[in-house]
Amino acid sequence: MVEKLALNGGPKTKTTAPFPMYPGGLEIGAEERKEVLEVLDNQYLFRYYGPKGVASKVAQLEKDFAKMMGSPYALAVTNCTGALITSLIACGVGPGHEVLVPGYTFFASCAAIVAAKAIPVIVEVDETLTMDPKDIEKKINSSTKAIVVVHMRGVPCDMDSIMAIAKKHNLMVIEDVAQALGGTYKGKMLGTFGDCGCYSFQYHKTITAGEGGMIITKDLRLLDRCKGYHDTAACWRPDRFAEQRYEGELFAGVNYRMSELTGAVLLAQLRKLDSLLLRMRSNQRRIIDQIKDVKGLKVRPSYDEAGDTGICIMFYLPKADQVQQFAEALSAEGVPCGGVFNSGLPDWHIYAHWKHIIEKKTPTPEGCPWTCPYHKGPEVNYSVDMNPHTLEYLSRVIHLDVPPQMSNEDCDLTAKAIKKVAAALL
Ligand SMILES: Cc1ncc(COP(=O)(O)O)c(C=O)c1O
Repeated sequence: MVEKLALNGGPKTKTTAPFPMYPGGLEIGAEERKEVLEVLDNQYLFRYYGPKGVASKVAQLEKDFAKMMGSPYALAVTNCTGALITSLIACGVGPGHEVLVPGYTFFASCAAIVAAKAIPVIVEVDETLTMDPKDIEKKINSSTKAIVVVHMRGVPCDMDSIMAIAKKHNLMVIEDVAQALGGTYKGKMLGTFGDCGCYSFQYHKTITAGEGGMIITKDLRLLDRCKGYHDTAACWRPDRFAEQRYEGELFAGVNYRMSELTGAVLLAQLRKLDSLLLRMRSNQRRIIDQIKDVKGLKVRPSYDEAGDTGICIMFYLPKADQVQQFAEALSAEGVPCGGVFNSGLPDWHIYAHWKHIIEKKTPTPEGCPWTCPYHKGPEVNYSVDMNPHTLEYLSRVIHLDVPPQMSNEDCDLTAKAIKKVAAALL
């Protein structure tokens, strides 16, 4: 017998309160306070100097982060947008270049390319909702310089195929790991495959200081160039007036330096990362195990299930026109969730809503980078329906967050609610 949905006046399945998706944010407490108070007590708020010769929290964070990722170098920055721009510039991206980016990612991954003076080329995602390697090959030409790959919503991209394509065409690879900190592909940490890996510590991310970012790289010259761009005051150089050691080491940059206060919060948060990942992964697995065989529902596939960070569950419905009603019914059962494309709200993670890119809006009228005279080859143009597969997948998918704070009971009730709604509507 089909149970009456809460949406239609039936009993609500999950009456326990949902947690907001601020995984690390909800765990801020005594450890973060202790680290921050040390910074204040020492009056040491700037990473490179202060009245007392104490150790920098930001420098310690870089060391701990690099070790945890298995990367030789890490550079802390103000946010992931800054990390992406810095990495692109360090990788030699600039006027005349095209850079590939997936059509499903936060707008910042694409905007960073424009900020680096290059032209974004938007690539389809496949059913995993990460960049489709088949479409990458189609969109490469002699102007292509780099690929920004995004491990979207916690899952790894097909890094074997992407790195093989990059090698074949001599392209730089920047991994946007903002949404997948701690994720792996075939046992190796995300962010360590490409030339640079970029992370976010914005409040919605797995660990947070409200804002913050990180770059990792295994290449010392790329690190130098990242340092140079992120700190144009050259505080990072023992002698700021020293000659450059090699062509391309020194150039004018900006200021994306991380504050010691941010570094202090993140030092404490980083120590909580393993626990957060363990809990999100186990909650996600517990729910998926109970819904994976539900008729009409297909859990998003992955290039490496073991590498998923577990931040969310996404599943497909057979038809796009079922999504809104399903999401409303499931939310009414006490499980907040949503459709992604055409859910009524424009989602800034979908290229079709990137009006400034599609219409090539620029802060000054001459239209760079799209009109850059260094850009050879056909003009790059965009339209809302240019990546139909991406929109088709996104129009059929339901997204729900999996906070680490959920109890086993919360997970079981979530699965029960999904099964109830599926039985009634699919
Ligand atoms: C995939 C992705 N890239 C980049 C960013 C930008 O990060 P930040 O806010 O730290 O600049 C985000 C933030 O939401 C993101 O989700």
